[in-house]
Amino acid sequence: MRLGVDYYPEHWEKEKIDVDLMRMKEMGVNAVRIGEFAWSLMEPSENKFDFTFFDHVIAKCKEYELEVMFGTPTATFPAWLGKKEPSIYIISKDGQKMAFGGRRQYCYNSPEYLYYSLRIVEKLVTHYRTEESLYSWQIDNELGHEGSDDCYCLNCHQAFQTYLRSNYVNIETLNETWGTIFWGQTYHSFEEIPMPTETITVHNPAMRLDWARFRSASLNQFAQKHIEKVRELKGGHQTVTTNLPGGFFEKWFDHNEFSRSLDYVSYDNYPVWGGLEKPVSPAALSLSLDFVRGLTGKNFTVVEQLMGAQGHDITGYLPRPNQAKLWSYHAMAHGTNNLYYFRWRGMTRGAEQNCLGILDADDQKTRKYEEAKDFFEDISDYKEAIDGPIKAEIALLYDFDSVWAWRIQRESARFNINEEFLRLYEPFYKKNLPIDVIRKDADLSNYKILLIPVMKITDTSFTAKLEQFTKDGGTVVFSFRAGVKDEHNNLRLGSRPPGPFSSLLGISIEEVESLGDGQRFSVTNGTEEYHKGEVWREMVRVNEAEALYTYNDAFYSDYAAVTVNKFGAGQAYYIAGGIESGIIDRLAKKMLEKQNLETIASDEGVEVVQRSTLEGKTYQFVMNHTGLLKQHNGINLEPYECKILNL
Ligand code: GAL
Repeated sequence: MRLGVDYYPEHWEKEKIDVDLMRMKEMGVNAVRIGEFAWSLMEPSENKFDFTFFDHVIAKCKEYELEVMFGTPTATFPAWLGKKEPSIYIISKDGQKMAFGGRRQYCYNSPEYLYYSLRIVEKLVTHYRTEESLYSWQIDNELGHEGSDDCYCLNCHQAFQTYLRSNYVNIETLNETWGTIFWGQTYHSFEEIPMPTETITVHNPAMRLDWARFRSASLNQFAQKHIEKVRELKGGHQTVTTNLPGGFFEKWFDHNEFSRSLDYVSYDNYPVWGGLEKPVSPAALSLSLDFVRGLTGKNFTVVEQLMGAQGHDITGYLPRPNQAKLWSYHAMAHGTNNLYYFRWRGMTRGAEQNCLGILDADDQKTRKYEEAKDFFEDISDYKEAIDGPIKAEIALLYDFDSVWAWRIQRESARFNINEEFLRLYEPFYKKNLPIDVIRKDADLSNYKILLIPVMKITDTSFTAKLEQFTKDGGTVVFSFRAGVKDEHNNLRLGSRPPGPFSSLLGISIEEVESLGDGQRFSVTNGTEEYHKGEVWREMVRVNEAEALYTYNDAFYSDYAAVTVNKFGAGQAYYIAGGIESGIIDRLAKKMLEKQNLETIASDEGVEVVQRSTLEGKTYQFVMNHTGLLKQHNGINLEPYECKILNL
């Protein structure tokens, strides 16, 4: 198990290295990640390479028996390159060229950037290919993060037209597919097609979905070239990864694509960031980790785990004593098998003075140091539990086309995709069962329950797969807007929603309503009990299905809001709006019983993750996510305490 810190020795005088490494060793560190922003040090002027500083750092790491993960430094390019090749900079949607000074300002479609970035990677990897202590390469740093996945430069414009030409072959097909007859936008050649930059009103939604796919392809082809270059040159003992940032569904790239070419996936786990008054909820945190694990179906490394408060210009919530330590256990419980803390020491100069580390600027041992030390010591005893595979029988399915279609048209001012994913995920999560978060084209044969939130876009092959799954006894749960759009982000003529899912769900939808801030609707199951909903609602006619809840208002009381359809040996549920969790909790209970899935009861705020080793031993991670004293099966849990039980 690699337990480490992110170390930036280039930020401090060289003499500090010994003391730093010694203190790391005392803390229980056995690996460090270095290098990922230091291109200017490795190629101080064009084509002059100098690795002597890192030779020294690595020699020192060896002296202290620390393994090394090396980040290729292409997320920040040197000033000389920015001056020499101004075309490498990202141009924003409103035509603003990014300045040198921040990071990640390069365009994935710049041939110049590709050339220079691959050259530094080539020199670096060749230099260290025989270095035994260097066990893994991290490609770049957080590809696509902080808005760096979108660019409107000339290279992107031309590449977009080429991308469209190769997909549509002739312009007539594109016109027909996009429906350019609307507002008289018919194109006569691919060269006439603009990028979706600022305009009056909005661009065509089919065009914007193609732009999203093109952005994803641009990032992925850049990543693939870097992965291939490292693979071609690295030593046989070295592996390849890259670190994914959070906020997956606010990005313009499909994380699955390049992840499949890595030896293992890495993730940067920040439960709270600049300006947030409180951390994201334990369910949201779990969903993120389950998403990362779902990319390859394997355990993964966290290369940046928050320990102190973080932020660029604005900092936020201070993790309470033991809370960041709890998040480390939590990451492990959900599939992390190696973990690095960001960062060893907070920086005194530069943009990240508000990103606190294990040590602060005063360079004294801190509470955080002691927590990290305790965690490393304790978790080392549970390697077999952590290395075991996680086998879920519930999966939440997503698809980036649908995610992007929601980014393009939110439809309701209150719509938030993360909240909609959680609306279905959380009721099952609270029953302490593992859940995989996976792309919809994954193998579904090991699952019993599929959660399919707000999947606007679909094709018929997916419908066939789900129908078979349900016929064979599976349970599927859809939420609103399912199947309303075709694969081009257009509505379907002559078919009512839920389009291709109509027969599986046994319903048809006649009208829909988008709700704004503070607007609520009410639903009932015919008793005196009423529940609220928000964001969106649909007036559902039941055909073969049964109405479980109907609307409770003057106009729509004969329409269903929640339905279930028996389909073969299985059941297909539809939740036709942003319906509050009480109902979904109750339905989840029924579905789990029907599928004979055993749940683990726990108090509010206490999460239990059960893990089995390959030899069949069972462990439970019992985690108190609250600042209060809690109990679980007679065991006391201090605020933010995790206990690992060997059952
Ligand atoms: C991460 C990033 C790090 C550092 C950190 C600050 O997203 O990879 O380089 O910026 O955030 O919290």
